[in-house]
Amino acid sequence: MYVCSCFGVTEEQVKQHVENGACSPRQIASACKAGTDCGSCVRRIQALLGRGALPRREPAGRTSAAPTGLPEAA
Ligand code: FES
Repeated sequence: MYVCSCFGVTEEQVKQHVENGACSPRQIASACKAGTDCGSCVRRIQALLGRGALPRREPAGRTSAAPTGLPEAA
């Protein structure tokens, strides 16, 4: 299934780049250009990155960007 239809990049290709060490949409973009045209695939790329590259203990679906457990103001 295509993740980026502008450049014909498949989910498998993005996962491959993740396995090779890409950990941000920008790194995926420099590897295969995905996300550099219309940008509509960036969210899907982020979702693939979230699952593949950064193992998290939080349940998927939480969108909070703030790390938990850090004091706000010391
Ligand atoms: S679908 Fe990926 S840049 Fe347009």
